Amino acid sequence: MPETFFVTTPIYYVNDVPHIGHAYTTVAADALARYHRMAGKTVLFITGTDEHGQKVQEAARRRGISPQQHCDEMVVRYRELWSALTISHDDFVRTTEERHQRIVQAILTALYQKGDIYKTSYEGWYCVPDERFWTEKDLTDGRCPECGREVQQIRESNYFFRMGSYQEWLISYIDEHPDFILPRTRRNEILGFLRQPLTDLCISRPAQRLSWGIPMPFDPEYVTYVWFDALINYVSTAGYLTRDDQFLSLWGNAVHLIGKDILTTHCVYWPTMLKALGLPPPRTIFAHGWWTVEGRKMSKSLNNVVEPNSLITRYGSDPVRFFLLREGTFGLDADFSHKAFIHRVNSELANDLGNLFSRTLAMTAKYFGGSIPSPSAMEDVDRRLSDTALESVRRVDAAMADIAFHKSLDAVWELVGMANKYIDETAPWSLAKRDGGGQRLGTVIYQVIESLRFIAILLHPFIPSAAERMRAALGLKEPIGPGSLAALSRWGETIPGTALTSIPPLFPRIEA
Ligand code: MSP
Repeated sequence: MPETFFVTTPIYYVNDVPHIGHAYTTVAADALARYHRMAGKTVLFITGTDEHGQKVQEAARRRGISPQQHCDEMVVRYRELWSALTISHDDFVRTTEERHQRIVQAILTALYQKGDIYKTSYEGWYCVPDERFWTEKDLTDGRCPECGREVQQIRESNYFFRMGSYQEWLISYIDEHPDFILPRTRRNEILGFLRQPLTDLCISRPAQRLSWGIPMPFDPEYVTYVWFDALINYVSTAGYLTRDDQFLSLWGNAVHLIGKDILTTHCVYWPTMLKALGLPPPRTIFAHGWWTVEGRKMSKSLNNVVEPNSLITRYGSDPVRFFLLREGTFGLDADFSHKAFIHRVNSELANDLGNLFSRTLAMTAKYFGGSIPSPSAMEDVDRRLSDTALESVRRVDAAMADIAFHKSLDAVWELVGMANKYIDETAPWSLAKRDGGGQRLGTVIYQVIESLRFIAILLHPFIPSAAERMRAALGLKEPIGPGSLAALSRWGETIPGTALTSIPPLFPRIEA
């Protein structure tokens, strides 16, 4: 059986207009999924939408339509954006789907029967927009510690999950599994949080107040708290309780990519829920940083939300994908600015990569009528290029295992730079004058084309459309996709005599 890899994004609130923050996690997950497929693994990549809760109920009410109709309309924005960004998810889950709701209810029933869910009356402070309860001591200056807004005092009966009883277990688990929460700083943050006593988690809302949720199967007067519902998407889509063989083979290799703001729900609520069900935690939860825009927080009130759709329409999906994964260090905050975007596209995509590609095609056309020449004996300078290419394969592999996209792209760009330097050093144009297209010229052109084959395959996870255009132009028969990494185990697989096809520039320069 091939190895498996399972990657998820958070499921996005349907109410939000998708912005670059949402695109970021999804593009990152897509790059991982594509890479692991290229490595020959059986991959499951899921994304989706989080459709229950107060905000959706409110928004639908304001529009005078049913919450379901509201969700059906809103979900299209995400589906269309993922298609415009060439996202290759295997499944798209909506929490309003029957297949998901059924599993949420089955889990609630199991935990209730086990005694891990109980009902009690509760007094506390409630933040309506966040749909969260806080105790008196949680509050910051009498306001919600999370969003700073006003809270209301509420007294009601609710169902609670015995999260507190798993505190000791969770601390030991995190201690013993250094790669469970990444980056390290986030792991320390959670261990710090767990130094305080962990309280039980309120997991219901009275249906009277909030009807847009999954009914508690043992008490129709209540619906399930939206986070309890949402987190379960990670197992409901993977086959938990429906295709258990598939589920178990995937779950041990599950990676959740999230933003740093949803760390506690994923690293405290979720593993304790799984533990209560007798399931192990996912292999890794990786929290990335946040994007600021031109140095400022991105927010509706500042009117500076960057919508990926307008960028894609203007520049295409690959430049957007590339910028998101190249600009920052995955795990840290990064800044989006139009200047930085244009600079990256022009200097790295149009110049470094685009020119390397077009001048190679042009030289092959000019000196060899567009057909790949045969190489003869390699010289030192050729070997330096092939060594760099083989080394970049290893570096990308290590970086992808560490979920460090910036490092993968560093490795590929070193190869791109090396190939450009190789052309400058070997100067095919003077070779052409000296030996009129003899053996050395053929060898040089062959080496550059072979390095482009490496570059095209290595770039598939990041800029799949450009990689595909490169593949076609290079005359490679096999589409780049599942299993393609095997073609990079050896230097010299390019077949002499293959006809190259000339294509328009890979990345036109953006004129400021
Ligand atoms: N519905 C929940 C997730 C449930 S997962 C079981 C949710 N949705 S969200 O739509 O609000 O946010 C989804 C993701 O977008 C989060 O990971 C969040 O970190 C990310 N981002 C929101 N703004 C962001 C930036 N400015 N920059 C980077 N990511 C950001 O939370």
